[in-house]
Amino acid sequence: MMSFVVQTSISERSPGRDVTILERHDDERLIEAPFSRLRYPPPVDSIVVTGGAGFIGSNLVRLALAEAPDRVVVVDKLTYSGHRTSLADVERNPRFAFIEADIADRDAMRAAMAAHRPRAVLNFAAETHVDRSIDGPDAFVRTNINGTYELLEASRAHLATRTAGDAERFRFLHVSTDEVYGTLGETGLFSEETPYAPNSPYAASKAAADHLVRAWHETFRVPTLLTNCSNNYGPYQFPEKLIPLMILTALEGKPLPIYGDGGNVRDWLYVEDHCRGILLVLEKGTPGAKYNIGGGNERTNLQIVDRLCEILESERPASGNAAFSSNGIRSYAQLKTFVPDRPGHDRRYAIDANKIRRELGWRPSYSFEEGLLRTVKWYLSNQDWCNAVQAGKDARARLGLATTPARGARA
Ligand SMILES: NC(=O)c1ccc[n+]([C@@H]2O[C@H](COP(=O)([O-])OP(=O)(O)OC[C@H]3O[C@@H](n4cnc5c(N)ncnc54)[C@H](O)[C@@H]3O)[C@@H](O)[C@H]2O)c1
Repeated sequence: MMSFVVQTSISERSPGRDVTILERHDDERLIEAPFSRLRYPPPVDSIVVTGGAGFIGSNLVRLALAEAPDRVVVVDKLTYSGHRTSLADVERNPRFAFIEADIADRDAMRAAMAAHRPRAVLNFAAETHVDRSIDGPDAFVRTNINGTYELLEASRAHLATRTAGDAERFRFLHVSTDEVYGTLGETGLFSEETPYAPNSPYAASKAAADHLVRAWHETFRVPTLLTNCSNNYGPYQFPEKLIPLMILTALEGKPLPIYGDGGNVRDWLYVEDHCRGILLVLEKGTPGAKYNIGGGNERTNLQIVDRLCEILESERPASGNAAFSSNGIRSYAQLKTFVPDRPGHDRRYAIDANKIRRELGWRPSYSFEEGLLRTVKWYLSNQDWCNAVQAGKDARARLGLATTPARGARA
């Protein structure tokens, strides 16, 4: 006679070592599940972190493994900006798993969800460099919009297989940017109510994804969370972005390219403080809500470059740098070079982070000075990482000046 499983429960014969799944059947028999089912459900909760081999994602993975009990399953396509070497110190952690896959690959995302049955998906995976989005918007549309759509749909399908309690507990946390709000004048801050006005293909693709996330909550009741953060800096950032680009270029004694007049303002946040904010929103945020995250550290690009030059002078004086002796340059500051501006370059971003501070008690732990010093020191002592991620690529080439219609495009 056939019997059906009506309930499963985990029995830990020797806690943490020997886990068995017991199945209660409709004829009341309690039977140990066949070996093929022993992996499910996993003994601890899992969270899926897409883009976990990138800058912010790898910092989040490290923090989550250190401070939370979950298994962390990284899903990453390993594009030019994603590197396993950024996760080298956690690869052997028994609570870490890695899946090399594209978030826009429907089958792969559904398989990942079925295999790991996560309690949460944290979506960091994205094309992220504004200059690249000007030269080649295609990948931005595909990953940032289609990829987010596929993840939302995979999450919706996953929720349909969960108990009501697990479905209610599930979270889809989408990591977004302040760039969706467009540009500010001399004054004012972006709040959660600021209308979207993206100006670059990157910002537009992120804005589109934010709208999908909102709609999947409103229409399908997927328990989503949205965070919009200002510029991050810290360890493991690919050297195409301002701060590592300036550090590594300066050390080589090459010109430091400053876009336009250098007066564009960004609001900087140390990456660990962003990651702590994300984990707080994951645990305490209200489903369907969005939270701005920012450090309140407004600096012009020129101020950033000047401060980096000063820190480098004290940490690795130009006078002792072999790259300088041959070209007659005596200080890092002498390398500053103004270059043509980025088309459509937003003038100023600044975040009002009052909501996450007030409702969730988030506070940044690092001052801008502390964070910047830590960052410079990290790049100085992690040259192997810098060489590995730049190998075979012109990582610091000037991009994003092409604004003429693409070849073959209609006028
Ligand atoms: N860096 C910032 O200052 C900042 C600020 C606010 C928000 N954000 C957002 O945070 C997220 C992470 O940014 P980051 O700076 O770490 O970016 P990053 O470029 O360093 O990392 C992106 C990661 O996503 C992976 N990826 C790209 N396309 C993928 C795809 N189709 N499928 C799976 N993986 C893919 C890459 O391999 C890489 O590991 C992004 O969504 C970005 O928009 C970044």
